[in-house]
Amino acid sequence: MAGVSGCLKYSMFIFNFLFWLCGIVILAIAIWVRVSKDGQEILSPGDSSTNPYVSVNILIAVGSVIMILGFLGCCGAVKESRCMLLLFFIGLLLILLLQVAAGILGATFKSESERILNETLYENVKLLEAADNDAKAFQKALAEFQEEFKCCGLVNGPADWGNNFQQNSKSCACPGPSDSSCTLYDGKHVYKQPCISLIKDVVAKHILIVIGIAFGLAVIEILGLVFSMVLYCQIGNK
Ligand SMILES: *[C@@H]1O[C@H](CO)[C@@H](O)[C@H](O)[C@H]1NC(C)=O
Repeated sequence: MAGVSGCLKYSMFIFNFLFWLCGIVILAIAIWVRVSKDGQEILSPGDSSTNPYVSVNILIAVGSVIMILGFLGCCGAVKESRCMLLLFFIGLLLILLLQVAAGILGATFKSESERILNETLYENVKLLEAADNDAKAFQKALAEFQEEFKCCGLVNGPADWGNNFQQNSKSCACPGPSDSSCTLYDGKHVYKQPCISLIKDVVAKHILIVIGIAFGLAVIEILGLVFSMVLYCQIGNK
């Protein structure tokens, strides 16, 4: 093989330029959220007890890695720098290996995570009857979920709400006695079905989406590995 394929070089350049831009955008948004007061309001409106910084910090790390890799791939291709292409290759390979490891771990502990989710949900029934701030946040979230998914209570139905039932009965409200999915509880027509199985379904669906994205990313990463390696070899043979 003599010379460097222009097509390969410029596809590598364009793709990595796009990645570099994505990285910068992600980083900029994450830092803006981290620093600005408005951003903090978006993440935890009216509630300072939950710590939103974990996800923002992860975004900052992801944005930085994408930006650095994009820069290495982009400049490495244009300048035909073997050193940069090699760093790009190694970085991408590490990410791919981490992803594969996370996938294997996740699959291994699948039943374990299902058990933990189930137990957490059973534990959280206590929060529905409580009155402290953590409990309030959870109650608010479940009320929204009830409204959207037409269920009531977490595990046993409306009784889970205990003394907080009347306060939250609106989000459980069911059209009326004619509907077979309704029941009369404490003077209100509410949905019979507890939310636990619906919550599990939603979690499972989100996990499927994450797996899909991970596979899509893996394909792009493998393409990047192949491209950078071919370019690296072509530059060496010039
Ligand atoms: C979920 O946990 C509860 C209580 O710990 C248990 O009774 C129930 O059988 C579990 N359900 C599943 C599907 O694992």
